Amino acid sequence: MRKQFIRLTVNGDCREVAVAPNQALVEVIREQFGLTGTKRGCTSGSCGVCTVNGDDGEAVLSCLALAIEWDGRSITTIEGVAQNGALHPLQQAFLEHGAVQCGFCTPGLIMTARALLESNPRADAEAINEALAGAICRCTGHIKVKEAVAKAVEVLAGGHAGQEGSDGAQG
Ligand code: FES
Ligand code: FES
Repeated sequence: MRKQFIRLTVNGDCREVAVAPNQALVEVIREQFGLTGTKRGCTSGSCGVCTVNGDDGEAVLSCLALAIEWDGRSITTIEGVAQNGALHPLQQAFLEHGAVQCGFCTPGLIMTARALLESNPRADAEAINEALAGAICRCTGHIKVKEAVAKAVEVLAGGHAGQEGSDGAQG
């Protein structure tokens, strides 16, 4: 299939990449940008492990998004969440609450929660439940994950900073 160049910015890194018309955004992120924190799971919009954040911080299922439709646009992946060596409060809370087991779902959960906090910084338990409903963890339940997101809401409301010196949840 004939490829076409698009200009895509990922975590502030703007590149021209050649994509096929049917190529999913997750493939470009992983194979052309080399950012493997974004996972490929069901590839049909059902598990949330491929979630990234779009231009406005919204949650985007990168297995369903066609890369060609992202020409001229920006995304953030899990690798762009920690800033200047400081974990995002969500990443810190996931660590502190033991909300990670194998870690395969963790980038998608964090990007889903980050989108929620962008649109609703005071998200309550109901909003957290609703936002995470489509993000599946195969190792464990959502209890610790939801506790971690609630903690991040609290920290962000109080203006606490994240912790220095880690690269964040990747893999
Ligand atoms: S891989 Fe995208 S929703 Fe499952
Ligand atoms: S921690 Fe293993 S799938 Fe969620």
